[in-house]
Amino acid sequence: MHDTLHTRPRKPVRPSQGQRRANYLGSGLLLGSGLLWLVAHHLLPLPEFAARHPLETWAMRIHGAAALFGIAVFGSLWASHLLPAWQHGRHRASGASLAVAWLLLLLTGYGLYYVPDEDWRAPLSLVHQLAGFGLPLGLGLHVLTVRRSRRVARMTAAARP
Ligand code: HEM
Ligand code: HEM
Repeated sequence: MHDTLHTRPRKPVRPSQGQRRANYLGSGLLLGSGLLWLVAHHLLPLPEFAARHPLETWAMRIHGAAALFGIAVFGSLWASHLLPAWQHGRHRASGASLAVAWLLLLLTGYGLYYVPDEDWRAPLSLVHQLAGFGLPLGLGLHVLTVRRSRRVARMTAAARP
Protein backbone atom coordinates (compact mmCIF):
# COMPACT_ATOMS: atom_id res chain seq x y z
CA MET A 1 0.00 0.00 0.00
CA HIS A 2 2.78 2.31 1.04
CA ASP A 3 4.75 1.37 -2.07
CA THR A 4 1.81 1.95 -4.42
CA LEU A 5 1.40 5.50 -3.14
CA HIS A 6 5.05 6.27 -3.77
CA THR A 7 5.23 4.77 -7.24
CA ARG A 8 1.87 6.08 -8.49
CA PRO A 9 2.66 8.04 -11.67
CA ARG A 10 2.02 11.75 -11.24
CA LYS A 11 0.21 13.86 -13.83
CA PRO A 12 2.99 15.32 -15.96
CA VAL A 13 3.32 19.06 -15.48
CA ARG A 14 6.07 19.82 -17.99
CA PRO A 15 4.63 22.21 -20.58
CA SER A 16 4.28 20.54 -24.01
CA GLN A 17 6.92 21.26 -26.64
CA GLY A 18 4.48 23.59 -28.42
CA GLN A 19 3.79 25.51 -25.20
CA ARG A 20 7.50 25.78 -24.40
CA ARG A 21 8.31 27.10 -27.88
CA ALA A 22 5.35 29.52 -27.86
CA ASN A 23 6.43 30.77 -24.44
CA TYR A 24 10.02 31.38 -25.53
CA LEU A 25 8.83 33.06 -28.73
CA GLY A 26 6.35 35.32 -26.90
CA SER A 27 8.86 36.26 -24.19
CA GLY A 28 11.57 36.93 -26.82
CA LEU A 29 9.27 39.14 -28.90
CA LEU A 30 8.12 41.08 -25.81
CA LEU A 31 11.66 41.65 -24.62
CA GLY A 32 12.99 42.45 -28.11
CA SER A 33 10.25 44.97 -28.92
CA GLY A 34 10.55 46.54 -25.43
CA LEU A 35 14.29 46.96 -25.95
CA LEU A 36 13.75 48.37 -29.44
CA TRP A 37 11.42 51.01 -27.97
CA LEU A 38 14.01 51.92 -25.32
CA VAL A 39 16.76 52.31 -27.94
CA ALA A 40 14.52 54.37 -30.28
CA HIS A 41 13.24 56.53 -27.40
CA HIS A 42 16.51 57.21 -25.61
CA LEU A 43 19.35 56.70 -28.06
CA LEU A 44 18.27 57.44 -31.64
CA PRO A 45 18.22 61.06 -32.86
CA LEU A 46 14.73 62.41 -33.64
CA PRO A 47 14.05 63.00 -37.34
CA GLU A 48 13.26 66.62 -38.12
CA PHE A 49 9.72 67.77 -37.13
CA ALA A 50 8.89 64.38 -35.60
CA ALA A 51 7.39 64.16 -32.10
CA ARG A 52 8.74 60.62 -31.70
CA HIS A 53 11.05 58.32 -33.59
CA PRO A 54 9.11 56.16 -36.14
CA LEU A 55 10.80 53.05 -34.72
CA GLU A 56 9.04 53.70 -31.38
CA THR A 57 5.68 53.34 -33.10
CA TRP A 58 6.78 50.13 -34.82
CA ALA A 59 8.23 48.74 -31.61
CA MET A 60 4.90 49.30 -29.80
CA ARG A 61 2.93 47.74 -32.68
CA ILE A 62 5.03 44.59 -32.36
CA HIS A 63 4.92 44.84 -28.55
CA GLY A 64 1.11 45.01 -28.52
CA ALA A 65 0.81 41.94 -30.77
CA ALA A 66 3.43 40.07 -28.71
CA ALA A 67 1.56 41.00 -25.50
CA LEU A 68 -1.71 39.50 -26.83
CA PHE A 69 0.13 36.35 -27.95
CA GLY A 70 2.13 36.11 -24.70
CA ILE A 71 -0.99 36.47 -22.56
CA ALA A 72 -2.74 33.72 -24.53
CA VAL A 73 0.25 31.41 -23.92
CA PHE A 74 0.36 32.38 -20.24
CA GLY A 75 -3.36 31.55 -20.04
CA SER A 76 -2.79 28.11 -21.55
CA LEU A 77 0.03 27.47 -19.06
CA TRP A 78 -2.11 28.60 -16.12
CA ALA A 79 -4.43 25.60 -16.13
CA SER A 80 -2.10 22.97 -17.56
CA HIS A 81 1.15 23.95 -15.80
CA LEU A 82 1.02 26.57 -13.01
CA LEU A 83 -1.85 25.10 -10.97
CA PRO A 84 -0.83 21.42 -11.13
CA ALA A 85 2.89 22.29 -10.69
CA TRP A 86 2.03 24.35 -7.61
CA GLN A 87 0.13 21.38 -6.16
CA HIS A 88 3.12 19.10 -6.77
CA GLY A 89 5.18 21.58 -4.77
CA ARG A 90 8.38 21.49 -6.84
CA HIS A 91 10.18 24.62 -8.13
CA ARG A 92 7.65 26.84 -6.44
CA ALA A 93 10.04 29.73 -5.74
CA SER A 94 11.37 30.20 -9.28
CA GLY A 95 7.98 29.43 -10.86
CA ALA A 96 6.07 31.83 -8.62
CA SER A 97 8.66 34.62 -9.20
CA LEU A 98 8.16 34.21 -12.92
CA ALA A 99 4.37 34.24 -12.50
CA VAL A 100 4.63 37.45 -10.40
CA ALA A 101 6.73 39.11 -13.16
CA TRP A 102 4.02 38.21 -15.70
CA LEU A 103 1.21 39.54 -13.49
CA LEU A 104 3.10 42.79 -12.83
CA LEU A 105 3.70 43.23 -16.56
CA LEU A 106 0.03 42.63 -17.30
CA LEU A 107 -1.12 45.16 -14.69
CA THR A 108 1.42 47.86 -15.51
CA GLY A 109 0.97 47.24 -19.28
CA TYR A 110 -2.76 47.77 -18.86
CA GLY A 111 -1.99 50.87 -16.76
CA LEU A 112 0.30 52.30 -19.47
CA TYR A 113 -2.35 51.77 -22.10
CA TYR A 114 -5.19 53.39 -20.16
CA VAL A 115 -3.18 55.72 -17.92
CA PRO A 116 -5.82 57.92 -16.21
CA ASP A 117 -3.41 60.72 -15.30
CA GLU A 118 -0.16 61.58 -17.11
CA ASP A 119 1.65 61.88 -13.72
CA TRP A 120 1.28 58.12 -13.35
CA ARG A 121 3.04 57.31 -16.62
CA ALA A 122 6.65 57.62 -15.39
CA PRO A 123 6.29 55.37 -12.29
CA LEU A 124 4.16 52.84 -14.21
CA SER A 125 6.71 52.80 -17.01
CA LEU A 126 9.57 52.26 -14.55
CA VAL A 127 7.87 49.31 -12.80
CA HIS A 128 6.92 47.89 -16.21
CA GLN A 129 10.51 48.06 -17.44
CA LEU A 130 11.93 46.56 -14.24
CA ALA A 131 9.44 43.67 -14.44
CA GLY A 132 10.29 43.46 -18.16
CA PHE A 133 13.95 42.80 -17.39
CA GLY A 134 12.84 40.41 -14.64
CA LEU A 135 11.02 38.29 -17.24
CA PRO A 136 14.08 36.80 -19.04
CA LEU A 137 15.91 36.50 -15.71
CA GLY A 138 12.95 34.70 -14.09
CA LEU A 139 12.40 32.43 -17.10
CA GLY A 140 16.12 31.60 -17.35
CA LEU A 141 16.31 30.81 -13.62
CA HIS A 142 13.15 28.68 -13.69
CA VAL A 143 14.14 26.64 -16.75
CA LEU A 144 17.76 26.17 -15.62
CA THR A 145 16.82 25.00 -12.10
CA VAL A 146 14.19 22.65 -13.56
CA ARG A 147 16.68 21.16 -16.03
CA ARG A 148 19.39 20.80 -13.40
CA SER A 149 17.11 18.95 -11.01
CA ARG A 150 15.93 16.71 -13.87
CA ARG A 151 19.58 15.89 -14.68
CA VAL A 152 20.31 15.11 -11.03
CA ALA A 153 17.21 12.86 -10.84
CA ARG A 154 18.33 11.00 -14.00
CA MET A 155 21.85 10.49 -12.64
CA THR A 156 20.52 9.27 -9.29
CA ALA A 157 18.18 6.82 -11.05
CA ALA A 158 21.03 5.54 -13.26
CA ALA A 159 23.30 5.02 -10.25
CA ARG A 160 20.63 2.96 -8.40
CA PRO A 161 21.48 -0.78 -8.43
C1 HEM B 1 3.29 28.50 -9.80
C2 HEM B 1 4.38 28.63 -10.42
C3 HEM B 1 5.16 27.51 -11.10
C4 HEM B 1 5.59 26.29 -10.61
C5 HEM B 1 5.37 25.71 -9.21
C6 HEM B 1 6.32 25.64 -11.69
C7 HEM B 1 6.94 24.39 -11.61
C8 HEM B 1 7.57 23.73 -12.64
C9 HEM B 1 8.06 22.37 -12.58
C10 HEM B 1 7.92 21.42 -11.37
C11 HEM B 1 8.61 22.08 -13.79
C12 HEM B 1 9.27 20.76 -14.20
C13 HEM B 1 8.22 19.90 -14.84
C14 HEM B 1 8.72 18.52 -15.21
O1 HEM B 1 9.83 18.41 -15.69
O2 HEM B 1 7.93 17.59 -15.05
C15 HEM B 1 8.48 23.28 -14.63
C16 HEM B 1 8.92 23.40 -15.93
C17 HEM B 1 8.71 24.49 -16.73
N1 HEM B 1 8.04 25.65 -16.41
FE1 HEM B 1 7.19 26.06 -14.62
N2 HEM B 1 6.32 26.46 -12.81
C18 HEM B 1 5.61 27.61 -12.49
C19 HEM B 1 5.37 28.69 -13.32
C20 HEM B 1 5.81 28.81 -14.62
C21 HEM B 1 5.55 29.94 -15.49
C22 HEM B 1 4.81 31.23 -15.07
C23 HEM B 1 6.13 29.67 -16.68
C24 HEM B 1 6.17 30.52 -17.94
C25 HEM B 1 5.33 31.49 -18.21
C26 HEM B 1 6.74 28.35 -16.60
C27 HEM B 1 7.42 27.72 -17.61
C28 HEM B 1 8.02 26.47 -17.51
C29 HEM B 1 8.73 25.84 -18.62
C30 HEM B 1 8.95 26.42 -20.01
C31 HEM B 1 9.18 24.60 -18.12
C32 HEM B 1 9.94 23.52 -18.91
C33 HEM B 1 11.41 23.66 -18.70
C34 HEM B 1 12.12 22.55 -19.45
O3 HEM B 1 11.82 21.40 -19.18
O4 HEM B 1 12.92 22.86 -20.33
N3 HEM B 1 6.52 27.85 -15.32
N4 HEM B 1 7.85 24.26 -13.90
C1 HEM C 1 3.07 40.33 -20.31
C2 HEM C 1 4.02 41.02 -20.85
C3 HEM C 1 3.85 42.47 -21.31
C4 HEM C 1 2.71 43.17 -21.55
C5 HEM C 1 1.24 42.74 -21.43
C6 HEM C 1 3.12 44.50 -21.96
C7 HEM C 1 2.26 45.52 -22.33
C8 HEM C 1 2.63 46.80 -22.64
C9 HEM C 1 1.73 47.87 -22.99
C10 HEM C 1 0.20 47.74 -23.11
C11 HEM C 1 2.47 48.98 -23.21
C12 HEM C 1 1.94 50.38 -23.58
C13 HEM C 1 1.88 50.50 -25.07
C14 HEM C 1 1.60 51.91 -25.51
O1 HEM C 1 1.66 52.85 -24.71
O2 HEM C 1 1.32 52.08 -26.73
C15 HEM C 1 3.86 48.63 -22.99
C16 HEM C 1 4.91 49.50 -23.09
C17 HEM C 1 6.24 49.15 -22.89
N1 HEM C 1 6.72 47.90 -22.57
FE1 HEM C 1 5.62 46.25 -22.24
N2 HEM C 1 4.50 44.57 -21.94
C18 HEM C 1 4.98 43.34 -21.54
C19 HEM C 1 6.30 42.96 -21.42
C20 HEM C 1 7.38 43.82 -21.58
C21 HEM C 1 8.77 43.41 -21.50
C22 HEM C 1 9.27 41.97 -21.28
C23 HEM C 1 9.53 44.52 -21.70
C24 HEM C 1 11.04 44.53 -21.69
C25 HEM C 1 11.77 45.50 -21.26
C26 HEM C 1 8.62 45.64 -21.89
C27 HEM C 1 8.98 46.96 -22.14
C28 HEM C 1 8.11 47.99 -22.45
C29 HEM C 1 8.52 49.36 -22.72
C30 HEM C 1 9.95 49.91 -22.70
C31 HEM C 1 7.35 50.09 -22.99
C32 HEM C 1 7.23 51.60 -23.29
C33 HEM C 1 7.09 52.28 -21.95
C34 HEM C 1 6.45 53.64 -21.99
O3 HEM C 1 5.59 53.89 -22.87
O4 HEM C 1 6.80 54.42 -21.10
N3 HEM C 1 7.32 45.17 -21.83
N4 HEM C 1 3.94 47.29 -22.65
